[in-house]
Amino acid sequence: MNNNMQHYLEATESSILAHLGQNHVSPTIRKASSYSIEAGGKRFRPYLLFSTLDALGHDPMKGVQVAAAIEMIHTYSLIHDDLPAMDDDDYRRGKPTNHKVYGEAAAILAGDTLLTESFSIVAQDDTLPADKRVALIGHIAAKSGFNGMIGGQMLDIEAEGQDISLSQLENIHQYKTGQLIVLPVQCACIIADATDEVTAQLIRFAEALGILFQIRDDILDVEGDIAVTGKSSGSDEKNNKTTYVSTYGLSGAHDELEQLVESAKRILDDLAADIETEQLYSVLQRFAVRNQ
Ligand code: IPE
Ligand code: IPE
Ligand code: MG
Ligand code: MG
Ligand code: MG
Repeated sequence: MNNNMQHYLEATESSILAHLGQNHVSPTIRKASSYSIEAGGKRFRPYLLFSTLDALGHDPMKGVQVAAAIEMIHTYSLIHDDLPAMDDDDYRRGKPTNHKVYGEAAAILAGDTLLTESFSIVAQDDTLPADKRVALIGHIAAKSGFNGMIGGQMLDIEAEGQDISLSQLENIHQYKTGQLIVLPVQCACIIADATDEVTAQLIRFAEALGILFQIRDDILDVEGDIAVTGKSSGSDEKNNKTTYVSTYGLSGAHDELEQLVESAKRILDDLAADIETEQLYSVLQRFAVRNQ
C-alpha cells in the first residue's frame, strides 16, 4: 500500500476514535465501541473511497470524515452480525468478538453507537458544504438501511438451509455486502463532483467489486486460516448458510470470482478514457486475491 493511503487510513481511525472519545456518559460504551475499531480490519471501504477520490483527481484527505462514518457503519454491522442471535461467532479482527468481551447488551449498544454517531461525524464535517453533507448522510442511510445492508442481512438469515437460485444468491450478496461497497464510491463521486456518466460507470464497477468481495469471503470461510483472516472459519457451514460455496462448490465459487474480476476490469478499461484508473486496478487486484 502506498504511504499516502496509509496516512489517509490512519487519519480515518484517529477521527473515529476522537469522536468516540467525546462520550462522557458511559465509559463502557466508549470502551466497547472503540474496541472493535481498534481491533483493526482491512479498512477496505475507506481504502476504496480514497482510491476513488484519487482516480477523480480530488484530494483524498477531503474524504476522511466520510470514510470514518462508513467504517463505523461497517464495524457496527460486524458487531451485530457476530451476536448469538445472528452468526454467533467468537473471533473477529483477530480478537474475541465484542459480545464475548463486553456482553450482549453492551455489544448491541456499541453497534448502535457506531451507527448513530456515523451521521453525526458527517454532519460536523465543516470541510464540506452543507448541501453535500445532507446528500452524503442520505446516501449513507439508504445504503445501510432496509433497502441496503440491513435488508440483505435479513435475506441472508431467511435463506439459511434453503435452496436458492443464482440470482437470489447474488441479490443477497448485493444487499448485505455490495451496498456498503458501492457506498464509498458513490460518496467519493459526490465529494469530487463527478459527472453523471462517470458516477454510473464507477457504481457498476463497485457493484461487481461488492459481489466478488463476498464470494471471496465465502471461499475464505472454508479455505481461510484464522491466523490471517482473524475470524473463525466454518461459520457458514455451522449456520447452514446459503453461500457461493454451498451452492456451487469451491471451484464454482472460484470460477464466478474470476469472471467478476474480468468484468470489473472491463469497466475500468472503459473508464480509463475519463479518469485515472491505476489506483482502482490495484484495489481490484489486491482485494480479489485477498487471504485476509
Ligand atoms: C467482512 O468484511 C464482512 C463482509 C461484508 C464480507 P471485511 O472483510 O471488510 O472485514 P474487516 O473490516 O476487514 O474486518
Ligand atoms: C456479513 O457477511 C455481511 C455483513 C456484516 C453485513 P458474513 O456473515 O459472511 O461476514 P463474516 O464472514 O462474518 O465477516
Ligand atoms: Mg452473516
Ligand atoms: Mg458472519
Ligand atoms: Mg462470511
